[in-house]
This record gives sequence, C-alpha cells and structure tokens, in this order.
Amino acid sequence: MEAAKSPSIVVLTGAGISKESGLSTFRDKDGIWAKVALEDVATPEGFQRDPKRVHAFYNDRRRGLLAADICPNAAHVALVELEDRWPGEVLIVTQNIDNLHERAGSKNVIHMHGELLKARCGACGSVFDCNFDLALELPCLACMRAGGLRPHVVWFGEMPFEMDRIYAGLDACGLFLSIGTSGNVYPAAGFVQEVRGRGSTQTIELNIEPSEGRSFFEEQRYGPATEIVPAYVKELLKKASA
Ligand code: APR
Repeated sequence: MEAAKSPSIVVLTGAGISKESGLSTFRDKDGIWAKVALEDVATPEGFQRDPKRVHAFYNDRRRGLLAADICPNAAHVALVELEDRWPGEVLIVTQNIDNLHERAGSKNVIHMHGELLKARCGACGSVFDCNFDLALELPCLACMRAGGLRPHVVWFGEMPFEMDRIYAGLDACGLFLSIGTSGNVYPAAGFVQEVRGRGSTQTIELNIEPSEGRSFFEEQRYGPATEIVPAYVKELLKKASA
C-alpha cells in the first residue's frame, strides 16, 4: 500500500540537533538556563523589567549564530536528504530559533518558537530580518517608531507560532520523529501524545539520552544526532525504495 510505505513525516527538533554545530542547549548541565534565569530573559515580564538585559542576551546569541564557525551539521543535512528523497511530505517543526535547518537546505520548516534572525515591532507588529544588535532606541524599519523592537522569539507564557498548521501536520502524519529535545516544554512536548492518540502513527525518539517523554515513543534510538539521524534517514529511504 503506497500510503503505508511513504506516509507524511513530521520531524520535531530541539536544541540537541544544533549542539554539535556549536550552539548551546538549554537544560544540559552546561546549558543556557544553567547560566541565566529564563524568567529574566525569556518572559514578557523580564523584557518589561529590563529590556536592555534581554536585548543583550539575544544580541549575544545572534552574534554567536552568525559566527563563521557555526554551520549546519550532518543531522541537519540528513533531514534535507529526507525532504528531497522521501515520496511523502516532510515537515520540520523546530523549537530552535537558529537558522541551521534552512542553511542546510530544508524548505518546509516551521519555527514554533520564532527566529533569532528576525525582529518584531511592538508598535506596528512588523517582522523583519535582523542580523544586527537590537536596542530599545532603534526605530522600527516600518513605522519608524523607537522603543518597541523585540526579538521575534516566543517567550514563556506566549503562544507559539503556526499551531494550526502544526496540528494539521500531526493529524495527517504517519511517522513522527523527535530529535534533540528534552521533552520539557509544552505544547511541543505533548506532540507525541497527540499523534499516539491517533493510533496509526509511528513514533520514534532520536536523542543523545532518554527524554522526559521517552515512554510515549514506540521506538527510541540514543546517540549523538550527527550519528543516529543520518543512519536512521538512510534506513528510512532504503525501506521506501524497496
Ligand atoms: N545529539 C542529540 N541530542 C542531544 C545532543 C546531541 N549531540 N546534545 C544534547 N542533546 C539532547 C539533550 O540530552 C536534551 O534532551 O537535546 C536535548 C536538549 O534539551 P533542551 O536543552 O531542553 O532543549 P529543547 O528541548 O530544545 O528546549 C525546548 O525550551 O527553553 C525553551 O524555548 C526553549 O526551544 C526551547 C525549549
């Protein structure tokens, strides 16, 4: 049955897929939340309290992402090959705000937590590319008003982006892959239960160690993403062409 052989695939990725590219995760012992309190830099209240501090936090991460030595790794590249060669649709839903999926060549990507290289104006709502340091006194490129610019990033307590499109993808998929996420933050951490509820979707976790949600996955493979993701994609594509 063609459909069973090449169902549509939803791939959820987290900070772990970018770790071997040199970007920090959040909850590893050397992670970002071990160094700074998320309440201070990743909440609307934190931004209200001290916008300068929040801008400095994201400016530092933006400069880090734009550094010459930061580039997509073999796991990102394997997902491009999957998108290019899989007979069904492949949708990447990433929690990451880096652009490594796109730089590797992935086209069908949803950034549910926003993008570090975009800024949003609190006054007019315009969103534009941003590869420069943000500051409160900078005027919006659209309405020219100063004082309202913020990173186009979803903070704790805010609604992730494109949830309707994500749930439609989960509803239609026959295979759900979760890569490099600790399964700590909802709604992303609940996607596996969402698809499990449908019964007909295969679920697999690819991570360096078991995540919080490990028991919800039918299959688990553990190891560095740059090793287990290319190996798994190779296996999938071999099965699809058999
Ligand atoms: N290969 C595969 N997995 C890895 C690797 C690696 N080389 N290195 C780390 N990991 C795993 C960790 O074991 C952990 O399970 O990646 C996961 C990263 O988890 P978190 O640091 O919690 O990152 P993530 O799950 O993406 O966080 C979700 O929380 O703070 C918010 O908005 C932030 O999008 C983020 C969300």
